[in-house]
Amino acid sequence: MQYGYFDDEAREYVITRPDTPYPWINYLGCENFYGLFSNTSGGYCFYQDARMLRLTRYRYNNVPTDAGGRYFYLRDGGDVWTPSWMPMKSKLDRYECRHGMGYSRISSARNGLAFTQTSFVPLGDNCEIHKIVLSNESKANKDIDVFSFIEFCLWNAFDDMTNFQRNYSIGEVEVEGSRIYHKTEYRERRNHYAIWAVNVPVAGFDTDRETFLGLYNGYDQPETVFAGKANNSIASGWAPIGSHHIKVHLAPGESKTMVFVLGYCENPNDQKWERAPNAAFGVINKAPANALLEKYSSTEAADKALAALNEYWTALLGRFTVNADDKCMARMAGVWNQYQCMVTFNMSRSASYFESGIGRGMGFRDSNQDLLGFVHLVPERARARILDIAATQFPDGSAYHQYQPLTKRGNNEVGSGFNDDPLWLISGVAAYIKETGDYGILDEKVPFDNNDALADSLFVHLKRSFDYTLTHTGPHGLPLIGRADWNDCLNLNCFSAVPGESFQTTANFESGIAESVFIAALLVWAGPDYAEICRRTGRPEEAVRADKAVAAMTETIKAHGWDGDWFIRAYDAHGKKVGSRECEDGQIFIESNGFAVMAGIGLDDGRAKKALDSVKERLDTKYGIVLLQPAYKEYHLELGEVSSYPPGYKENAGIFCHNNPWVTIAETRLGRGTRAFETYTKICPPYREDDSSLRRLEPYVYPQMIAGKDAKRFGEAKNSWLTGTAAWTFVSISQYILGIRPEYDGLRIDPCIPAAMKGFSVTRHFRNAVYRITVDNTAGAEKGVKSAALDGKPLAPSANGALLPALGDGKVHEVTIVMGW
Ligand code: BGC
Ligand code: NOJ
Repeated sequence: MQYGYFDDEAREYVITRPDTPYPWINYLGCENFYGLFSNTSGGYCFYQDARMLRLTRYRYNNVPTDAGGRYFYLRDGGDVWTPSWMPMKSKLDRYECRHGMGYSRISSARNGLAFTQTSFVPLGDNCEIHKIVLSNESKANKDIDVFSFIEFCLWNAFDDMTNFQRNYSIGEVEVEGSRIYHKTEYRERRNHYAIWAVNVPVAGFDTDRETFLGLYNGYDQPETVFAGKANNSIASGWAPIGSHHIKVHLAPGESKTMVFVLGYCENPNDQKWERAPNAAFGVINKAPANALLEKYSSTEAADKALAALNEYWTALLGRFTVNADDKCMARMAGVWNQYQCMVTFNMSRSASYFESGIGRGMGFRDSNQDLLGFVHLVPERARARILDIAATQFPDGSAYHQYQPLTKRGNNEVGSGFNDDPLWLISGVAAYIKETGDYGILDEKVPFDNNDALADSLFVHLKRSFDYTLTHTGPHGLPLIGRADWNDCLNLNCFSAVPGESFQTTANFESGIAESVFIAALLVWAGPDYAEICRRTGRPEEAVRADKAVAAMTETIKAHGWDGDWFIRAYDAHGKKVGSRECEDGQIFIESNGFAVMAGIGLDDGRAKKALDSVKERLDTKYGIVLLQPAYKEYHLELGEVSSYPPGYKENAGIFCHNNPWVTIAETRLGRGTRAFETYTKICPPYREDDSSLRRLEPYVYPQMIAGKDAKRFGEAKNSWLTGTAAWTFVSISQYILGIRPEYDGLRIDPCIPAAMKGFSVTRHFRNAVYRITVDNTAGAEKGVKSAALDGKPLAPSANGALLPALGDGKVHEVTIVMGW
């Protein structure tokens, strides 16, 4: 069953009923201030760091679900209702939620009163704007009481949900007219406060939760709203909230608009307090709030900011647009997949409806991969991110597994020892250079271990990444896995037997034996980029050394990483194979097979084809490719978390979407366009839009995992939004299926599509030129370019496509490609 539809023209997903199978959310903000926003106005917002600087409170895993948001209660005569449906689950005569690029709009109506809430974070400012329009569609006058409601988080989200003996005594607010200031901890070490304001006069306000709701009431039974009169409560400890009471008179046909602003304000430390003569003690300096509210004091200003946001997205998405008969593919590749890439780039794995915002920081490997799907959008931000990531690398080439977005420092709790991490830096940097041609980044001085005294060029960082892998090998000459590789749950050196321990960081005894075929394949994938970068920056000997190392690792994989019909996955700490037909469970894994073939291993001797055929035969399902088979039935001490999950979930044979595009890319290396596209469509959300009751999550973004065939809930998706799937599927569809691939010397056009796809067109901005590419596949080929022309002049075609030079002239160029070889 479907709960909405795509409005492709508007770049919106339109949700047509509020009771979606799970809250379907959007992200507001793409710079420093972010909000999570569900289709019933649930969610929360924060400045920069979802753990340290959270403005509003949200209750994860609550009953009912999705508790906490920016709520508006309407009292129309005696009738009290919430126009976003939640929290009162009000019966609505009309409901719609449009999630767009960085904004959402909820529209509803009841008894002739219509409501629209447009929510977004304006560019350049640290706030959410909620524009509310009330319209009287009835034939009688209406006198409405509007009550706004947010609950403040006491900044540190972890403390906020744990440290009640302190928290219940520290809440402080100030109120001035229509402006509510949340200033908990401002009296001591904080120099920031939150503002919740509206641009119309209020009849009253509340800032104390208990007074507003009643101690034993939920959000769905706010005493004050039913009474129709605010109490003007001033919070003192307990739970500070922000609620405005606004009286609105509406003649028939009349509409009124209000602009609410929920913002973050900061003062220099020596200017924290109001200094005006006679100012009372402890009054905060409101200068930044005044400036912010002044800016958004009118409907026009809010509308202008929204228009600017729209233009921003039009420009961004204009950098890669797709036209094709296949609407699901076109809307994902052209709009939603890129949008999700922006979100994963900004959030890493921190804050979603499945990530609490207090757990993980920015992942070293995650952020390097997120770059792959983002670098074409705002390359300068990708550049800055690369330098931040690289600064958390250790001098020996290993890396902090995570770092904190606010401090940009490596996270000591998790530490290092995830031995795939270093190589992802090479991948990220190579993608950046191919997109921009900016080799200068390699000369940037970047600290090791966040220590300036240890700084060296980014190039040296890449060298250390490469060497770390080569110098940490095991008995078969394959890379040692450490605590885990890409598969965080393959903990071959950890042997955790105590409930509650971290599978990754417990008892890592570094056997010196457990090896990863995946990391070996990653070396073969990333190594040639390292060699190429060396060659192109005057380091020919290093390039030769790297080429040799890659060739040697390829041979090692063939000698010790091949199981007969597929690539094995690893050797455990006892030297036993993982992912081999010798195993009882976990005989075949997706990662090593996808990655090895992506890296080109076995293209020359039939192993690549065999491996992918085995993946299809043993791992494929109607909803995507599962991670391994057979699923582990019992816990294996020597394997770790992978065997901890019930069969079919997560890494234990779930459809772990992140690695499906590796198989897609691998299939394109074999030239099998039909199969490549099949692996693409199976996990691509809009193709299952009408199956939303089973799939449950947003049809416009990728989830991390879909339950595999061994699971009771086969086909159900979990963990939407923050997943490496976003970047990798964008790479697979844009660079390998549609085949528009940045290379060091230009833009390669090398499509690998189903024979049945008759063509498509793409507009691609690349190094300050625009290429309008039309691909004609009336021949029904799957790969190969028969003829190519740039602005009417023929280009050399080949089985590997055609290479467009980087023209860099700021002009638009017409490219025509005819497939068939
Ligand atoms: C896995 C989780 C695991 C976590 C540990 C993730 O990559 O998907 O299952 O618990 O890593 O940090
Ligand atoms: C999610 C993690 O964020 C990512 O780093 C990891 O590769 C996958 N899970 C697989 O375990």
